[in-house]
Amino acid sequence: MDIGLEVKTDELTEEAKKVLLKNIVGAFTKPAPELYPHQWNWDAGFIAIGYAHFNIDQAESELRHLFSGQWANGMLPHIVFNPAGDNQYFPGIDFWETWRSFDAPEQVQTSGISNPAVHAFALQRMYELAEDKGRALNFVQEMYPKIKAFHAYLYRERDPQQEGLVYIRHPWESGNDNSPTWDIPLEKIDFNKVKVPPFTRKDLNTSDADHRPTHLDYDRYIYLIDVFRKGDYKEDQIYRLTPFAVQDPLFNTILIRANEAMIELGEMIGENTSDFREWNTKAVLAMNSKLWNPSNALYDAYDLISNERIPMEASSGLMPLFAGIPSQTQADAIVKVLKGKMFAGAGGESYYLCPSFTPTSPKFDTKKYWRGPVWINMNWMLYHGLKRYGFDEEAVAIKNDSIELLSRYGFYEYFEPKRNATGQTPGYGSHQFSWSAALYLDLLSI
Ligand code: GLC
Repeated sequence: MDIGLEVKTDELTEEAKKVLLKNIVGAFTKPAPELYPHQWNWDAGFIAIGYAHFNIDQAESELRHLFSGQWANGMLPHIVFNPAGDNQYFPGIDFWETWRSFDAPEQVQTSGISNPAVHAFALQRMYELAEDKGRALNFVQEMYPKIKAFHAYLYRERDPQQEGLVYIRHPWESGNDNSPTWDIPLEKIDFNKVKVPPFTRKDLNTSDADHRPTHLDYDRYIYLIDVFRKGDYKEDQIYRLTPFAVQDPLFNTILIRANEAMIELGEMIGENTSDFREWNTKAVLAMNSKLWNPSNALYDAYDLISNERIPMEASSGLMPLFAGIPSQTQADAIVKVLKGKMFAGAGGESYYLCPSFTPTSPKFDTKKYWRGPVWINMNWMLYHGLKRYGFDEEAVAIKNDSIELLSRYGFYEYFEPKRNATGQTPGYGSHQFSWSAALYLDLLSI
């Protein structure tokens, strides 16, 4: 691999496994040693893919534990709490007041919002890698109805106009927490008219404030949780009250890709897959008719409250490649954007692929979370998307950039996108970040 530095893949592989094993908390693996003491939803899917390479018991345990927090209406929460870590993270168990919902489980404590539906393709990857296919098949059978209930919840409760596109009702549901994409709808929350309940952040105890969301962002995040509490977690009530309901191209892409995985897995185990087919037919059409923006060759987001497109400048707009949503002609245009000044840079500025937000925007920030830095899970999805359309060279470039960043800096949460940056810290956010380690193991094998 020519990435201008010698990568000791064997040593890094051992290190990646160690990161994962060190972050185990009983039945699940936390995202990182300090900042995140609980189980996070989409992290669990990526983490299971990593374990599928060397510890199938733990891979299965991740998904089992996550789904132990599933709500009776199918909602899969973005956090399944570890009560022992409750004093380290805000908003914790009590703040969510999920007891207000008839659907929330009684024995397991969870948050009241969801996360991208990565589980079906994680399960599919586990099956592909399994040596014991009989066992893997049993696990597919065990998980299948649970994952189906989650997808059904999303299409039933989050698609009020039955368009085939689901909405997120909190930026954290997207997984791209403080992406500038959300600034536009969030700015509409008027704190002269509504009040934020009192709260104290805990993330700044263990992280650099320069790398984390601002206090204003947090006021907005917490205000939204208060809206959900006041709506008693009833989706129809929340939809009437919430100022934030956005169709996110990334969230929908992941769901469409997961539906595909459910079709393939379902055929294998003799399940009826017609729901998944219907959802995808409608969803792909809607992505292309409602969210595709031919003027910049990216998929926009859509604000259901103001009924407006949110112009896309984040890498989420490229991601529909991952689920085969664009035509080949659209894909050619998307790849031009990826390789052009919007993401790869131009002139004197060159960026590791792929910055989470475009360097051409004044909102670009190389250090701040989802406002510029490179994230390994996004690169993993982009890699697969590029391969899908025959862009092998570009896919390898993404893979090489990911491996270079991980080997140069370690298993950080997110990375400096500028290639020639000087004086930067090695990596940003948490060190020993589980999905960076897990997806390194998978990237090496694809
Ligand atoms: C951050 C990320 C989110 C992730 C969580 C746990 O909040 O933005 O995507 O799931 O950390 O790792």
